[in-house]
Amino acid sequence: MAMSITTGTSELRDVTKMERIGAHSHIRGLGLDDRLEPRANSQGLVGQAKARKAAGMILKMVQEGKIAGRAMLFAGPPSTGKTAIALGMAQSLGPDVPFTIITASEVFSLSMSKTEALTQAFRRSIGVRIKEETELIEGQVVEIQIDRSLTGATKTGKLTIKTTDMETVYDLGMKMIEALTKEKVLAGDVIAIDKTSGKVTKLGRSFAQSRDYDAMGADTKFVQCPEGEIQKRKEVVHTVSLHEIDVINSRTQGFLALFAGDTGEIKPELRNQINAKVAEWREEGKAEIVPGILFIDEVHMLDIECFSFLNRALEGELAPLVIMASNRGMARIRGTKFRSPHGLPVDLLDRVLIVSTKPYTEEEVQQIIQIRCQEEDTQLTPDALTVLTSMSMQTTLRYALNLIACGKVVARKRKAEMVDVEDLRRAYTYFMDEKRSVQWLKEQQGSLVFEEVGSKEDELMDIGQ
Ligand SMILES: Nc1ncnc2c1ncn2[C@@H]1O[C@H](COP(=O)(O)OP(=O)(O)O)[C@@H](O)[C@H]1O
Ligand SMILES: [Mg+2]
Repeated sequence: MAMSITTGTSELRDVTKMERIGAHSHIRGLGLDDRLEPRANSQGLVGQAKARKAAGMILKMVQEGKIAGRAMLFAGPPSTGKTAIALGMAQSLGPDVPFTIITASEVFSLSMSKTEALTQAFRRSIGVRIKEETELIEGQVVEIQIDRSLTGATKTGKLTIKTTDMETVYDLGMKMIEALTKEKVLAGDVIAIDKTSGKVTKLGRSFAQSRDYDAMGADTKFVQCPEGEIQKRKEVVHTVSLHEIDVINSRTQGFLALFAGDTGEIKPELRNQINAKVAEWREEGKAEIVPGILFIDEVHMLDIECFSFLNRALEGELAPLVIMASNRGMARIRGTKFRSPHGLPVDLLDRVLIVSTKPYTEEEVQQIIQIRCQEEDTQLTPDALTVLTSMSMQTTLRYALNLIACGKVVARKRKAEMVDVEDLRRAYTYFMDEKRSVQWLKEQQGSLVFEEVGSKEDELMDIGQ
């Protein structure tokens, strides 16, 4: 096993992080105080106190590294904030704790087997914190001298750099000259050069140079000229996910696959090699495992094969905390004839902590609507707020929140600043909620395709409906 395992560069990792915005963009955290008590309305979240507190407790355990390979299930009617709370958890995790979110149906739509898709999701949710020693050249630039050859095709140069204690001259090659030019390094700058990668970082301007402040602009950062040796050893720490290590080291994929998001299947032998290597790094004290969170939304959409995979994967040594959400009550387990609570097999249910979410009170709904209005930069008249709140109580919260944007469009058409009751009423007639839509479908009997849906056995029941 002579293969060397690389972990990529930090720039690469930043690009592959994606953020989801939209319906939940107002959520900034779980809104808990220091004692993990939920504040009534904080960080975009309102009410649902018990579920938020439970989420906070679990988070705490994750952060302390006490919990991995466990599972938790948010169960509750649609629009009660299951996804919202999970995203709140994601926001409260530290920057290097991985959080992966998938919707169960994604597992079936990728161009790979279901278990491969789940394995990738698992491995995305496990971080490896790697400590590396690098050698740095750090000091204040005294002079950069560049000599071009007669044709201009090649360049050589010298870099004079100093600390308060010493001064050294380095020969520069083409690559280094390019890197320095790109960073616009001038005499008087304090810089650091990573000796292995050749990466140049500008730390700031030396205080000694602060006289030319005017010439540099207001955002110039001034720093002290470093002391001591110019060449230093420094420990740097970075975190990558197991999946990223897999992809970078997979011969057929390589770096580009991370950008394209098209990673294909990864060979089990490679994963084994990587696991062995990571275990070795852990023993040598070079790496630590950071178990993260995998969130599987609409988990009842998984089938029995996926569930049995989950069961086994949760027992593995490198397992994240798995959080699931389901809005089903008693439902058929996909791929079987059996019905089970939340559409999950009993053996899986047995190992999950279940947290239930409950419908909101009128007051809470009103607060959520107000938060969304702020987020969408929309103003409602007080009457419109009352009307929308009661619409939400009769339909669903999600439907009511969708009407905010529709109402805004209608209001803008009549050149009004604020959304009024009339605008909402219009929007309400343009867009049906689920109940009215079902009613309409019934009235249209026979004139629509796919009308005879499902036998008794296929029927799934939502909680509370
Ligand atoms: N407690 C809450 N505080 C603020 N916004 C919420 C809350 N619960 C739900 N929402 C918002 O209401 C909408 C529906 O909630 P969602 O989390 O998608 O419901 P579920 O996943 O339970 O079906 C989303 O836009 C969500 O951000
Ligand atoms: Mg949801």
